[in-house]
Amino acid sequence: MDSDNANLKSIFEIDFELRKIQDLDLLLERILFEARRVVHADAGSIYVKQTVEEDGESIDKLFFRYAQNDTVQNSLPPGQKLIYSTFSLPINEKSVSGYSALTGKIIDVPDMYNIPPDAPYSFNSSFDKTAGYKTVSTLTFPLITADGRILGVIQVINKMDENGNVIVFSQEDIFLITHFAANATVALQQAYITRAMILRMIKMAELRDPKETGTHVNRVAGYAVEIYDRWAHNHNIPVEERETFRDILKIGSMLHDVGKVAISDVILKKPARFTPEEFQVMQHHTLFGASLFDDIHSNIDRMAKDIALTHHENWNGTGYPGWIDPVTRAPIKTGDSGQPLGRKEDEIPLAGRIVAIADVYDALCSKRVYKEPWDEGKVLDELRQLAGIKFDPELIDIFFEILPSIKHTQSLYPEIA
Ligand SMILES: [Fe+2]
Ligand SMILES: [Fe+2]
Repeated sequence: MDSDNANLKSIFEIDFELRKIQDLDLLLERILFEARRVVHADAGSIYVKQTVEEDGESIDKLFFRYAQNDTVQNSLPPGQKLIYSTFSLPINEKSVSGYSALTGKIIDVPDMYNIPPDAPYSFNSSFDKTAGYKTVSTLTFPLITADGRILGVIQVINKMDENGNVIVFSQEDIFLITHFAANATVALQQAYITRAMILRMIKMAELRDPKETGTHVNRVAGYAVEIYDRWAHNHNIPVEERETFRDILKIGSMLHDVGKVAISDVILKKPARFTPEEFQVMQHHTLFGASLFDDIHSNIDRMAKDIALTHHENWNGTGYPGWIDPVTRAPIKTGDSGQPLGRKEDEIPLAGRIVAIADVYDALCSKRVYKEPWDEGKVLDELRQLAGIKFDPELIDIFFEILPSIKHTQSLYPEIA
């Protein structure tokens, strides 16, 4: 088999792997990783096209989503993630990525510091300056659907030879990336459909409970994945298992409170704290949520059920709803008085323990009708104090270790005023 065919075969294998990823953000990250692998690029960025309102007009822009950079990453301690700032680009000829999105073309630039003078685009070297990195060769290509819609743009940076020297991208790279992009786009379209369905479910919950906003669920899901990543790293979880778990964790945690659709408006929309009786009714959202996913067809259903059911359990067994069957409402484990026992410690699934922290952290940092956002120091003190009482103490340690990544995730989904 010649090398083109061998590489194409590996592109088919990657395609198979990409189609297994159901969460949009994780898929984008993986697509960037695989694109870099296909052409041996040291670094890269991925942008998605989004329509935004500016000055009363709808315009399309490219939003930067992920950056990967092996050289910079390797200079960080193991397990620590690259933190980068987010920004958006207009779709026009001024930047290489904007030009690629505008024209639908693959742009091959051998040296970003020596762009030909007749090229319409120029290079913004601010990332290089802050990261102490030197971008040389880049290959920038659009992700275009079969019906001609641009979903995003990928830029792979600095092709490396076997000796670790930066070289230019070849014709073969362009050929491979064309096939890769076609497959990645199909996987991406599927993930958009899955995401849209989930967002519809969340919107239904949001229509009932204005506290449960899209930005809240996105942040909670983002924090949950960050916490899990470090936990999986510490526990040496095999990569394959890690990828699958984080994919369904992301989706399941977005759905943590969908059970609120079954709670009465009088309680949900009350602009004040609940009475003890109201609080008891409110607690049923865990059981309603779990019962929505009771006929388990996929790993997502199982994960969504676990999270909906257990995200208010406490590490010391004092949370709710405890050992109850969400459908029949029959107690599964009872104490001496016949009352259902609370789930404690490892009886609470890992995903439930993670989302408990992510959800409370986000609620304390956010404004609610009955409270202002707490300041950060107070929020962190509260989490620390509740380690071993409300929260898994190991996960709280992890939360503090990865605080910069948590803050980064927070900045990705700001509260819309
Ligand atoms: Fe909840
Ligand atoms: Fe929540």
